[in-house]
Amino acid sequence: MKDSKGRTIDYMRISITDRCNLRCQYCMPEDVPSMSHEEVLRFEEILRLCRLAGQLGIRKFKVTGGEPLVRKGALSFLKDLKALPFTEQVTLTTNGILLKDIVPELKSIGIDGINVSLDTLRKDTFQQITRRDYLPQVLDGIFASQEAGIKTKINSVLMHGINDGEFFDLIHLARDYQVDVRFIEIMPIGYGSKYQGYNREKLLALLSEHYPYYTQELSTRGNGPASYIHIPGFKGCIGFIDAIHGKFCSSCNRVRLTSDGILKLCLYYQNGVSLRELLRSGASDEELLSVMQKAVERKPTEHQFHQSAQEGQPELRQMSQIGG
Ligand code: 5AD
Ligand code: SF4
Repeated sequence: MKDSKGRTIDYMRISITDRCNLRCQYCMPEDVPSMSHEEVLRFEEILRLCRLAGQLGIRKFKVTGGEPLVRKGALSFLKDLKALPFTEQVTLTTNGILLKDIVPELKSIGIDGINVSLDTLRKDTFQQITRRDYLPQVLDGIFASQEAGIKTKINSVLMHGINDGEFFDLIHLARDYQVDVRFIEIMPIGYGSKYQGYNREKLLALLSEHYPYYTQELSTRGNGPASYIHIPGFKGCIGFIDAIHGKFCSSCNRVRLTSDGILKLCLYYQNGVSLRELLRSGASDEELLSVMQKAVERKPTEHQFHQSAQEGQPELRQMSQIGG
């Protein structure tokens, strides 16, 4: 469907849990309370909302968390999503720890892509950023996914003084493997505001010292706002997601469903509509559909990371609760 600004909304990100088996410094503290099981939508409830979202024109789904693969039944949920008659694409964002062993199943259900978060290739830095020691498992997951022929992307968040010395090492994953490597500019959401990040312009300046002959990759490679370049001889592309500096709000195609059933229209704003109480108080499909439709129509025009909020209150929840 189109929102009030004429944007076509056909993509929904679904967070199926706020839990995670990592504790990335920019995302959450060590001791973080999780939602109770009752607060989190059951898979049947999510699927019902997805069917309704399909009636509103949603065609592509991204399943996220927290870490989606820590939730029991995640795989069969992905399969059910993929089987909805209007679904064109189901992709997964994961930290990769539990990925390797389920790659064959993901391949067989026809997953359309997997994004794996990886900020460092160094054991000590991985421990420093994530407070855990799972780097080998993550790398195995990435390798297994690309070997199976699944479209695999790596998402990296570069931070001053922490992992910025690894820019070229991370880029070289796209030279050596069939993966795209994307650099996400850190967003000042929650714990992310403590770090200084890098945007496309800064990274391209760095990159061109070693690789001056890159070309812009104009084909779109996903649903998102990433822009890509290609370096001659590399198997995959390098992407940049400039959340703050390169505002892409005017072409935003997405809505988000949080694990506790809030339909969020913009990552930046707190406002969204809670669908859980409606779902659980016996609302009809028509009622739910009408609430969802009105919400999408009111999708905010743009984020205000640099100004005071104008269309509502800025988000106070953590990334792990929203799903990135
Ligand atoms: N800014 C940018 N990216 C973030 N992520 C988590 N928190 C932030 C933030 N504040 C990233 C993770 C993961 C993706 C889902 O979102 O590193 O790659
Ligand atoms: Fe977990 Fe992702 Fe948050 Fe890291 S950024 S703690 S992997 S949800």
